[in-house]
Amino acid sequence: MAGKKNKKHIGLDIGSSSLKIMEVSSDKEVRTIENIGVQELPAGPLEETLPSSLKTLIENTGITAKEVNISISGSAVVVRFVELPIMQPSELSQAVSYEAEKYMPFDMNEIILDYAVLEKDQASKKMKIILVGAKKDFVEKRIKLIEEAGLAPNIIDVDSFAIFNSFINNVNREERGSKTVALLNMGAHLTSMIIASGDVPWMVRDINLGDADLTQVLKEKLDIDTEEAERLKENPGERASEILGILMGIFQKLIDEVRLSFNYYENQYGKGVDEVYVSGGSIKIEGLIPFLKESTGMEFKQWDPLSSFTVNPKIPQGKLDKIRSLFAVCSGLTLRK
Ligand SMILES: Nc1ncnc2c1ncn2[C@@H]1O[C@H](COP(=O)(O)OP(=O)(O)OP(=O)(O)O)[C@@H](O)[C@H]1O
Ligand SMILES: [Mg+2]
Repeated sequence: MAGKKNKKHIGLDIGSSSLKIMEVSSDKEVRTIENIGVQELPAGPLEETLPSSLKTLIENTGITAKEVNISISGSAVVVRFVELPIMQPSELSQAVSYEAEKYMPFDMNEIILDYAVLEKDQASKKMKIILVGAKKDFVEKRIKLIEEAGLAPNIIDVDSFAIFNSFINNVNREERGSKTVALLNMGAHLTSMIIASGDVPWMVRDINLGDADLTQVLKEKLDIDTEEAERLKENPGERASEILGILMGIFQKLIDEVRLSFNYYENQYGKGVDEVYVSGGSIKIEGLIPFLKESTGMEFKQWDPLSSFTVNPKIPQGKLDKIRSLFAVCSGLTLRK
């Protein structure tokens, strides 16, 4: 049938504070957001909260397809970059298992191991490999909970790779050029950091700092409740500089962590990070980008994880604009086939 759209791709991002889901149809080069939504997770163990929250989200967004791409992050997954001599694929899988035993802080029986060749250098006869080890019991539990909600997990990705995938599809090559970029996506409890050049990630790290730490410091310093702290973070009005002043301590901690990684990267690869791209709910905080620029002397830019998608007209623009910055992981998951 003319104009028939291809299979739908659904990304489901299970964060510690909320679920994000997005359904995309693709027709040639055009990808369209058909359905999208966020569902806050109530406090409590995921075993109790995930299936019902996910069902609510599915109902509210009107998603009917069952297969979803998901991702994992934090301590459930370890990513390592290693260098090996160039070899045949048949030899590689054995060499990778051997390397993984050296580099993975887990028992090999307890992980799901995956790898990919990032780059082959014929001159040095070496190749760079990315190793990913995911805790098997963690992944199995996740799958079970998603199935309880009536969905079927398809691809299981890693948050930072999904963010990077989204980035290279939403920020065009000319803008990125041959620069080395760092991406920082601040979630509620984790900030994912990726250092990359061209279309290849060279370093990833999850930093244990997030938006919830910002809320917490506001609550403590101003003696207010969570709701009021959230409100002040999003709409500080006349109190913008006071609020930023309180939040600076957390951002400084984040900068210190990031700097350590940048230095490590520079020592490893002989090349520094040229600019930093930030995403996540907190980038809207007034004065944040100028503060980051000033305190690091580096270029900080915002990017929009939904900019390359067209949008089904039934989705109100206002609704989309409120949530778009939260979709770095989720939009990247829809791009996996
Ligand atoms: N429209 C919004 N809806 C929900 N949260 C928002 C919104 N705008 C900003 N935020 C803030 O963003 C944070 C959630 O970010 P995000 O959804 O990336 O976290 P998460 O994926 O749940 O957590 P993590 O990845 O750290 O486990 C919340 O702390 C919230 O205060
Ligand atoms: Mg998240």
